[in-house]
Amino acid sequence: MEYIRKLFQGNADGHGFDHSFRVWRNAMMIAEEEICDPQIVSLAALLHDADDYKLFSTENNANARRFLKEHCFPPETAERICAAVNSVSFSKNGGKRPETAEGRIVQDADRLDALGAVGIARTFAFGGGHGRPPEESIAHFHAKLLLLKDMMNTDKAREIAEERHAFMEAFLREWDRETGAAD
Ligand code: ADP
Ligand code: NI
Repeated sequence: MEYIRKLFQGNADGHGFDHSFRVWRNAMMIAEEEICDPQIVSLAALLHDADDYKLFSTENNANARRFLKEHCFPPETAERICAAVNSVSFSKNGGKRPETAEGRIVQDADRLDALGAVGIARTFAFGGGHGRPPEESIAHFHAKLLLLKDMMNTDKAREIAEERHAFMEAFLREWDRETGAAD
């Protein structure tokens, strides 16, 4: 945990330690309902952004591998964790559905963190970090976030996504009401 916390120190764009921790929580919730290796899910979730190109310029999962090596995980386990991590990212796997259950679970867990109250907060934090006013970030809901519930791999994630989706729709309706967009 401390390693992950240090790695992401000073990052406020919604990708930091707190995101990794929430993705881990989501992933463990989904893993209970799926046939999978919970140890791989747990570590892949915690490490899923440890080598994200937006934050780090590491190659071949160097940050994740260093952590796993320091904690004496056998090479096969490290390999499975890195494979799961790499299958989660849209850019790294060309948009394909992850081949392992562990990859599919962590992908769902990561996507769930873009939805609901947390998703709303992250969207405005991201937009603000890029110098954009809130009005401009509203478009991101329609462009991406409202599509995510139909992209989930697992039943449990689909169920949680439905609730978080409804919450975002209520938020957008209230936004339209308060800004006069609904008039
Ligand atoms: P991750 O790598 O964790 O899957 P992303 O890098 O796609 O997440 O996005 C991080 C957060 O920033 C998400 O909550 C996402 O919805 C938000 N975000 C990404 N692009 C935009 C954008 N153009 N405007 C507002 N928010 C965005
Ligand atoms: Ni992530």
